[in-house]
Amino acid sequence: MDPKRLAASKAVEYIKSGMTVGLGTGSTAYWAIEMIGEKVKSKELQVKAIATSKRSEEQARDLGIPIVPFAGIGQIDITIDGADEADEKLNLIKGGGGALFREKIVASNSLQLIIIVDESKLVKHLGKFPLPVEVVPFGWEKVFEKLGSLGCLPNLRQDKDKPYLTDNSNYIIDCAFGEIYAPAVLHNKINSIVGVVENGLFVGMAKVVIAGFENGEVKIFSANPAPG
Ligand code: 5RP
Repeated sequence: MDPKRLAASKAVEYIKSGMTVGLGTGSTAYWAIEMIGEKVKSKELQVKAIATSKRSEEQARDLGIPIVPFAGIGQIDITIDGADEADEKLNLIKGGGGALFREKIVASNSLQLIIIVDESKLVKHLGKFPLPVEVVPFGWEKVFEKLGSLGCLPNLRQDKDKPYLTDNSNYIIDCAFGEIYAPAVLHNKINSIVGVVENGLFVGMAKVVIAGFENGEVKIFSANPAPG
């Protein structure tokens, strides 16, 4: 089976009926949403969900997963999402698919963030993948300069011949830092630049990273013990 699908299948085991579930974005989260949809359809699971992107919300609605807005929900019980990189401390780079702000606000309101990846995403140090930073379009040029002065090579993400627009109508600047040894420090420096909405460093947020391997293995890296 596809390693992304293997990881998704293990993650979905953490969901119980009655939970509010955060739905991630990307080709790995896609499989988790499909599997949740199957369980909702067969009535094995009764859940409410909140999505981290318009495309995940559309997929969930098509599968009959009830979508709720932030207003009126308490805590999100579990969010299942992908990542572009995960290090040994379960710190992450996210946002390759452009949904980092929504992913972070959903994750930060979740009791548990479960990350699903294939083995290629497991790294010793974050940073080979350029760090996505969501910025407000007004004044983006100044933010671009300031990001560069933090020691990266910044690149305004494009969609054909125009700047890529997030679901929040913002731009993304992809920042090639090389290896990042102090992700929490860098996270705070980036977010202190006026015009930055959020950056794709998720430090200390993931409780579990589930990795699928080409040989069919699934490994669970956990900040807490796995469910019994
Ligand atoms: C989207 C994300 C994705 O989770 C990340 O890009 C991984 O995507 P994929 O599972 O397709 O490799 O952060 O903004």
